[in-house]
Amino acid sequence: MWCWRRMLRIPWTAKRTNVSILAQLGVSVRLSSICYQRLLSYFGHIMRRGNDSLEKIIVTGNTEGKRPRGRSPTRWADQLKKSNSDRFYQIAKMASNRSRWRQFTNAKLRYHQDHDLQS
Ligand SMILES: *[C@@H]1O[C@H](CO)[C@@H](O)[C@H](O)[C@H]1NC(C)=O
Ligand SMILES: *[C@@H]1O[C@H](CO)[C@@H](O)[C@H](O)[C@H]1NC(C)=O
Repeated sequence: MWCWRRMLRIPWTAKRTNVSILAQLGVSVRLSSICYQRLLSYFGHIMRRGNDSLEKIIVTGNTEGKRPRGRSPTRWADQLKKSNSDRFYQIAKMASNRSRWRQFTNAKLRYHQDHDLQS
């Protein structure tokens, strides 16, 4: 949903339900391969930025203090980190190497597409 919102340029402060966004897109809930690819490449893009990049700080969650209520773009990163912080760190580190990240995302996309075809 974060990806769809970004693609439609809906600010996370906008009070839009996921259902209304999906209706606008006219898509199924399942993340499309295109969206998944964009998500991965966008993540890599951010991770290759300097450590003072605001977007990188937001995604890696190196922020102190209060966080606004409601859904924010950090949610998916939070979930990833919560489920396994070592894995998040490794993925973030991997994304900083462009050619390594491309190998990783290509493998992920092949897997994703294979599973899309089956369903
Ligand atoms: C950014 O931070 C990471 C993790 O703390 C560190 O490994 C890396 O060297 C830093 N990069 C720069 C350009 O300062
Ligand atoms: C980046 O990844 C490539 C491909 O996996 C590897 O050959 C290369 O040594 C890596 N570069 C650095 C700086 O780690």
